[in-house]
Amino acid sequence: MSKPFASVAGETILVIGGARGIGRAICSRLAEQQANVTLTARNFEQATKAATEIRACFDNASVGALQLDVTDNTAENLDSWFDANGLPDTVIYNAGASPIYERPEKTTDQNWDLIMNTNLRGAFIAARTYARRLLDADKPGSMLFVTSIAGLVGSPRLGAYAASKHGLTGLVKTLAMEWAGNHIRVNAIAPGWVRTDLTAGLQQNPVLEKRLIDDVPLGYLAQPEEIADVAVFLCSDSARYVTGATWAVDGGLTCG
Ligand code: NAI
Repeated sequence: MSKPFASVAGETILVIGGARGIGRAICSRLAEQQANVTLTARNFEQATKAATEIRACFDNASVGALQLDVTDNTAENLDSWFDANGLPDTVIYNAGASPIYERPEKTTDQNWDLIMNTNLRGAFIAARTYARRLLDADKPGSMLFVTSIAGLVGSPRLGAYAASKHGLTGLVKTLAMEWAGNHIRVNAIAPGWVRTDLTAGLQQNPVLEKRLIDDVPLGYLAQPEEIADVAVFLCSDSARYVTGATWAVDGGLTCG
């Protein structure tokens, strides 16, 4: 008998970068839908606090916490977690950084490296670590990366970020091809503008915010939950024939 539509009940899902914003919304939806979730944050207290808060919202929700900085010993830390907890059904890589909004000629090497290491290098290391374990165990699995519409179209003032997210888009397609024969699905979500800390600076500028909203065919900036709903679907068995896809969740922003 097939599973209920988009059900993740009983699935084990590790969300890298899950304590706030879009990642937090994904964890909340997964917990609400009775998945066994573990969320990571750079700081253990933040991870634990977020997990406790999500558990408090949903009776009997299973939400664990893990400290992980994706720029530091990602493979070792993930391997330790897999040793202790087994292999999850899905790994979601949501960690991302976008600390600058400036012309490319002003971008420093330091900022370039920070953005690349967080958004792309960490994503690859997480994927490789998880896939090695799945391949060794001959187990199926799935990965979901949170990219951006900046990974689909050029994004002025966000050069390093756009390069990292375009890299991630290419990586997702390629990893999907590499591992499809091993029953490992690899997909991505590309959010448009979402109301989180990452975009707080843009939201605080009324002129800029209005300009952003005017460009969105649906006429508003997304809430994190609107991204989370699509993430839950892509993790579920209902998306079993989806791999190598990057789904724009952008209110129509990249249609034109
Ligand atoms: P956020 O700043 O609230 O969340 C970023 C997440 O990445 C946090 O959980 C943070 O702890 C984690 N993170 C950053 N550096 C890390 C590191 N070195 N190690 C481990 N975790 C790290 O922002 P938001 O908006 O929730 O972003 C989530 C994802 O969505 C990011 O990948 C971002 O690029 C992407 N995105 C966001 C959009 C938006 O408009 N807010 C639009 C398109 C994509």
